[in-house]
Amino acid sequence: MTSTSLPTPWVRPPDGVPGGGGLVDRHGRVATDLRVSLTDRCNLRCSYCMPPEGLAWLPKVEVLSDEEIARLVRIGVEQLGIREVRFTGGEPLLRPGLVGIVAAAAALHPRPEVSLTTNAIGLARVAPALAAAGLDRINVSLDTLDPERFRQLAHRDRLDDVLAGLRAAKDAGLTPVKVNAVLLRGINEADAVPLLDFCLAHGYQLRFIEQMPLDAHHAWTRGEMVTAEAILEQLSAAHTLVPDHEERGSAPAERWLVDGGPATVGVIASVTRAFCGACDRTRLTADGQVRNCLFAREESDLRTPMREGASDDELAERWRIATLGKLPGHGIDDPSFLQPTRPMSAIGG
Ligand code: 5AD
Ligand code: SF4
Repeated sequence: MTSTSLPTPWVRPPDGVPGGGGLVDRHGRVATDLRVSLTDRCNLRCSYCMPPEGLAWLPKVEVLSDEEIARLVRIGVEQLGIREVRFTGGEPLLRPGLVGIVAAAAALHPRPEVSLTTNAIGLARVAPALAAAGLDRINVSLDTLDPERFRQLAHRDRLDDVLAGLRAAKDAGLTPVKVNAVLLRGINEADAVPLLDFCLAHGYQLRFIEQMPLDAHHAWTRGEMVTAEAILEQLSAAHTLVPDHEERGSAPAERWLVDGGPATVGVIASVTRAFCGACDRTRLTADGQVRNCLFAREESDLRTPMREGASDDELAERWRIATLGKLPGHGIDDPSFLQPTRPMSAIGG
């Protein structure tokens, strides 16, 4: 099934958006969830995201300043109906001004929900400051609990830092702490059950994400991908899974109650059960480009007009126009599919 065959119901612009001035596309979807990449840099090299060596970073002059980011987030919230702001990277903890950027987002009206997707390296140190700044939740990427496989997958020996970061997030009240895991054939395929047991024991919400073609070296193949079905099969061999019928809305994860609940496990079947018809996301890269989809092949530049003195209204209008042309689906299954030029680390999850 291609994502284009999914229904795209008309969705009303969110309340409080004057004159329907939100981020609406031609298929009736409204973007209310903003993902902001704060840097393309990372201290890991997960093979589904970055090459083991090399990859030029964005030139510093092209990266938005803290003030520029805060301004675009404010325009999103005040003028465009953004209700959730998620900061990502690369690795957002590498951004020195992160705590201030979070505080600026959390001070907006209406107050958006503010969250962070991180590899958790260094989180142990800053989790309390992030919570005090108004961060609501955190998503930590963790694909294995085996130090050797961690090194093989992420090309760095940092598992202990990640585990310390996870604990600190929970202690700081950044809950529910969600854990994102990507399984790779022949590497960490067998880690599904250990990851679930670990998350159950610590009260973290685990979600598996099907590997998407976003790697820097364009090595993804559908045949090599560990599918949602295969993941569920593994989990079911060790636990009883019952579909959780709570409203899914635009949330990408399908959830299952584990062993009668209340704990759940989620699977984000981005490839085999695409959810593009319910997508409510818009993305801003670290260099100030709007992407209306993870897989978009075109971007809309907000940085240049902003630096040339564009008004808030003008930037908001450019963002609306950038949203209009959002394609109905990612088309991974179409023979004509082309992977985006930028790798995931430069787009932001
Ligand atoms: N496919 C699926 N998930 C990915 N992530 C990064 N690259 C990919 C990919 N190619 C995940 C990270 C992180 C989240 C933002 O996306 O593990 O948790
Ligand atoms: Fe870094 Fe996240 Fe990419 Fe891994 S997936 S290399 S942690 S940005």
